[in-house]
This record gives sequence, C-alpha cells and structure tokens, in this order.
Amino acid sequence: MSAEVEKIVMPPVPALVVAIDGPSGSGKGTIAHRLATLLGFQVLDSGSLYRLLALAAQQHGVSFDNEAALEVLAAHLDVQFQQGSNGDAVIILEGEQVTNEIRTEEMGRSASLVAALPAVRAALLQRQHAFREQPGLVADGRDMGTVVFPDACLKFFLTATAEARAERRYRQLLEKGFSASLPALVDDIRARDDRDINRAVAPLKPADDAIVLDSTHLGIDDVMARVRREVEQIAVLNRHLKVS
Ligand code: DC
Repeated sequence: MSAEVEKIVMPPVPALVVAIDGPSGSGKGTIAHRLATLLGFQVLDSGSLYRLLALAAQQHGVSFDNEAALEVLAAHLDVQFQQGSNGDAVIILEGEQVTNEIRTEEMGRSASLVAALPAVRAALLQRQHAFREQPGLVADGRDMGTVVFPDACLKFFLTATAEARAERRYRQLLEKGFSASLPALVDDIRARDDRDINRAVAPLKPADDAIVLDSTHLGIDDVMARVRREVEQIAVLNRHLKVS
C-alpha cells in the first residue's frame, strides 16, 4: 500500500505590477506605454476610467456631485478596451467609440470631480484590479502605488512644475491643430492638481517607496532612460525586458 502523499497546492503568484503615478501632463501615460511595450506587459490607464465615468454621467444626465447615482453608474460602466490596427487603444462606451471624446481638457476636469467621491473610487477598484494579468501590468494614475496596487514591485512618481506641464500640453494641442491659451492651461492644471492632491480619499501623492522623477528639465527620452535603469535593477522585471 503506497503512503498517501499530501499535495501542496501553491497559491497562484500574482502578476507583476509597475505603478506610475503623477499629476496631469507629467508624461506618465507615454512612459507607461513605452515601458509596457518594453516588458510585454498590459497597460492600465486608470484615468480613462474616471474620464469614461464622467462622459457616461454627462450622457445620462447625472450630475457630477450625485455620489449615489455615480456609484451605480461606475459599477455598471459598459466599457471595452480594444486595440486598433495601429496598436493604439480604442475605447468603446455603451457601444460607441469614444477614444478621442474622453481626451479633452473638459473631460479631464470632469473626471477629476467624479474621482473625488469615495463611493466612485470604491466602485472602480475591482475593475482596476482585473487588469492585473500575467506576465504583468504597467498601471498609470494617481493612486496606483498607494491604494490600487500597494504591492507593486516598482513604483514611480513622475512630476514637473505646473508651467512645464502646461507648456507641453499647449504644444500638443497646437500640433493637433487646436487653438489654446497657455495661461488658461496653467490655471487649469493648477486647479486639477489642487483637487487631486487635497481630496480626502486616495489623494495624489508619492507612495513612501516610490522613486520620484522630476521631468521639468528632462525630455521624455531622458525620463524613459532613467525608468529603464531602475527596471534593470529589479531581477523579476529585468528578465522581461526586450532587447532594443
Ligand atoms: O490621468 P488623467 O488626466 O486621464 O486623469 C483624469 C482625472 O482622473 C484626474 O484629474 C484625477 C482622476 N484620476 C484619479 O483620481 N485617480 C487615478 N488613478 C487616475 C485618474
């Protein structure tokens, strides 16, 4: 008679997460996408969820301070993230393509308003966790390293002065053929920072273990080079790095 062997079932190892937080215009979206490509990881652009909720609220006539209604809307948000033929994300809300619609300055402001409500943040938490899949995730937002993925194996906090961030946004808008006012953009960025930093739940701040990178005087390639150097120091991440 063979002795019964007790099987040890190992719990699944959670996928690796790199958290990239920072204020608007700090370049975290660009860095998150570049890093995800380099590592072969998924990307979570958590700001898009708040933007989508703001758009859904607008379409359903829900005001941005109606926390109970926004909580229900957030819990049932019908959204799909797809990949377009050029590799860029295509975002579908309730069957409609809204990829560009959610990117406006106005939607950023509205997103910041709904994001200050605790019930909204709680309702979107599970949805953000669902992006964590093997082999890993690069998550960009305001509270990735502090609240959503506190166990991320590497955390960055990207920052730059409001003037430098507004200037970048200004140039982007002009390149896309839009007219823009630099002083208005500075005011807008300051107001958004103020709301995101001073809200009661999950405020914008670096995690205690985050690497803070100030890009006021750095180009995006310099920031990426620094991020890459940090990634190379973490063995579990280094082995995913694609040679480039
Ligand atoms: O990153 P973004 O500009 O797309 O974000 C829009 C707004 O959404 C931002 O001003 C605050 C809110 N937000 C948040 O509160 N928490 C996140 N993790 C991401 C965005």
